[in-house]
Amino acid sequence: MASWSEEDLSYLSDDVDHRRHEALVAVEPGSDRGLGIARFFRKPGEPETAEVAVAVADDWQGRGIGTELLTRLTERARREGIRRYTAVVATDNREMADRLERAGAMGDGGSGEEGTSQYVVDLPTDGIGGLLQRALRAAARR
Ligand SMILES: CC(C)(COP(=O)(O)OP(=O)(O)OC[C@H]1O[C@@H](n2cnc3c(N)ncnc32)[C@H](O)[C@@H]1OP(=O)(O)O)[C@@H](O)C(=O)NCCC(=O)NCCS
Repeated sequence: MASWSEEDLSYLSDDVDHRRHEALVAVEPGSDRGLGIARFFRKPGEPETAEVAVAVADDWQGRGIGTELLTRLTERARREGIRRYTAVVATDNREMADRLERAGAMGDGGSGEEGTSQYVVDLPTDGIGGLLQRALRAAARR
């Protein structure tokens, strides 16, 4: 996004209550520059399901930050009783969709918001598991 509204910024920061909406940030030691962020948003009325999102600054990608953030976020999610993540993928992102499907994620076939499909991934009992790992790798390659 080129710019953020006050409403967007408030949603992504003030709204974080660590139960319904959690966010973990990686910062550069010394400068406090933000390097990456991982979040989950629990679905209203579906306490065991949360949407997940991870992003790492371009010049810090490929150094393990995404994996570390997702691993720690998933530990938090399990402690909050979350059992599955959902991820929204652009319908034209066939590579990501194929990888998710091959790894066993369930897609809704594009019935979500216009131009997107939603995929569901059950959380493993420990770590991030093979499916989330493969999904992160596929996103990183893109
Ligand atoms: C997806 C993303 C968060 C990954 O973060 P990252 O810090 O680069 O990830 P890691 O360094 O932990 O690497 C994760 C895996 O991808 C692989 N990888 C990382 N960068 C890669 C690249 N440029 N080419 C190929 N593989 C790559 C790593 O080897 C690792 O694979 P492994 O598990 O087999 O070792 C980051 O690329 C990003 O912010 N992308 C844009 C936003 C996005 O697509 N988010 C995901 C959807 S919510």
